[in-house]
Amino acid sequence: MRKPILAGNWKMHMTIAEATDFVRNIRRGLNDIRGVDRVLCPPFTSLPIVKELLSATQIELGAQNMHWEEKGAYTGEISPQMVQELCQYVILGHSERRAYFGETDEGVNRKIKAALAHGLKPIVCVGETEEQHDADQTEQVVGGQLRDCLAGLNAHEVTQLVIAYEPIWAIGTGKAATSAGAGSVIGLTIRGTISTLYDEATAQAVRVQYGGSVKPDNIAEFMAHPDIDGALVGGASLKPDFVELVRIAAETSGV
Ligand code: 13P
Repeated sequence: MRKPILAGNWKMHMTIAEATDFVRNIRRGLNDIRGVDRVLCPPFTSLPIVKELLSATQIELGAQNMHWEEKGAYTGEISPQMVQELCQYVILGHSERRAYFGETDEGVNRKIKAALAHGLKPIVCVGETEEQHDADQTEQVVGGQLRDCLAGLNAHEVTQLVIAYEPIWAIGTGKAATSAGAGSVIGLTIRGTISTLYDEATAQAVRVQYGGSVKPDNIAEFMAHPDIDGALVGGASLKPDFVELVRIAAETSGV
């Protein structure tokens, strides 16, 4: 059985003071929810205070990016060891990093290997643009991203990953995918590709989230799909009703 995982990607939002207020406000409600993993991914600057605020809870912490190198002259970068001091998870290959900061599948692949080598659980993002979606290239694009991101990993390593299927046209647009649409990409393309590259047991063991305009009022529909194991939530993770979203997810998963 795959344990659902709900993660909040705060992106470039919240100062340390805002993060402190917000986490104080939501941590009790979030911690009380059982049956799903809960992860907050604040900006780097707030990771230490949020780690402290969550120390008596089961809520876990993730970073939004990381470099693959151990250390060195990489101004502005954060190493796997630095992330590992604070976090259990790290988001890798988010479409915003690919689009605005030139990240490639090859770079994401190096980051995944570095994260695993440091005991971090990568949340690996894949997803097609609206143009690719409209041209029926989703399978080819997402399958290709996954193949290149997983290059050189063994089956056991793949089971340690969380994959986030985030169609770019659904991110921040209010235009979420349907659960049937996302579920079919996750089931057929993502698990299908993993099954072809490894085996069916590995494909069935990997947790795959959906991301893109997830809100309290559509999360139940996604959770009810047997191939969707949770969500990577952007905008809606910045509001107190993120607790409600996670509660609904816990209550409706596997329905
Ligand atoms: P929104 O939930 O704001 O659409 O963002 C999704 C996302 O990119 C999470 O990583």
